[in-house]
Amino acid sequence: MKTEILRMLRETDGYVSGQELCNKFGVSRTAVWKVMNQLKDAGYEIEAVQNKGYHLLSVPDLIDKIELSSIRNTGWAGNEIFYYESIDSTNTKAKELAEEGYPSGVLVVANQQTAGKGRRGRVWISPKGTDIYMTLMMKPDIHPNHASMLTLVAALALAKGIRRETGEEVQIKWPNDIVLNGKKICGILTEMSVQFDCINHIVIGIGINVHNESFAEEISDTASSLFLESGKHFHRAGIIEAFLEEFEKTYAVFLETEDISRLQKEYNALLVNMGRQVHVLDPKEPFDGKAMGVTNKGELIVDTWESRKLVSSGEVSVRGIYGYV
Ligand code: BTN
Repeated sequence: MKTEILRMLRETDGYVSGQELCNKFGVSRTAVWKVMNQLKDAGYEIEAVQNKGYHLLSVPDLIDKIELSSIRNTGWAGNEIFYYESIDSTNTKAKELAEEGYPSGVLVVANQQTAGKGRRGRVWISPKGTDIYMTLMMKPDIHPNHASMLTLVAALALAKGIRRETGEEVQIKWPNDIVLNGKKICGILTEMSVQFDCINHIVIGIGINVHNESFAEEISDTASSLFLESGKHFHRAGIIEAFLEEFEKTYAVFLETEDISRLQKEYNALLVNMGRQVHVLDPKEPFDGKAMGVTNKGELIVDTWESRKLVSSGEVSVRGIYGYV
């Protein structure tokens, strides 16, 4: 009932009458009043006017189940939300839930991580209340060889969602970092469990630096936050919802061909590497070239003096953009 009342308050410009709420939920005025007080205690500013009803004045920057459910506008993505004030890693939790039998679409969100994981075994620093730490768990019916493209699908959905919600012109650094003014503000860690050529589950873990006011010296040249780059504070739940909506749409397009051929143009338009000199840390032999976009399989096209090369994984640094983080 709390979520539904919050949704009604959000969706009503004027006042929601107390009587209307009593009738709708079949509860007493006292029960409605109690919910309003719980919402106020959580930080929602609600005005109560006699003979008119309740009016929502402002919302706090919460990312808990009530807040996210009250703005949820998606089909399968986020069909069940698990929220933790503090957890080791949302990816680890999402994998546990997958193994316990939860269906595709579960979203795990935390306000803090004590053992946040980055790519290549790195640590993802996850302070309390400043950022977004979330993992979308999926059980997709696709070939495991195509699964790595889901990270690109997620990066595209994130870039679109963040642009839509914040107005900031974020870009994608291949394959899956989101950058703003050349600094990393978001990372994606996709992990997969496969058995006999079948995907058991995939977890797409996303960390977005939202309100951070500083970073440790070792990473301050390369990492930043939406706040540091824009001077503005954004509503974290709005960013999460925008991502889920964009992901659902983008994933549906991906499924049409099980590759990114229909997303290539959009991805390339947001690619910070496009047309720039890049240094590819190929494990066999590092090389330099000019990035020319991605293929329909999500490989980075790099033109060197001698030939065109397709890079399917590994570290790529872009001249003028941060290095190997
Ligand atoms: C990277 O190294 O760029 C990827 C970082 C991914 C961090 C996110 S935060 C939410 C999810 N849970 C984790 O432990 N890691 C991912």
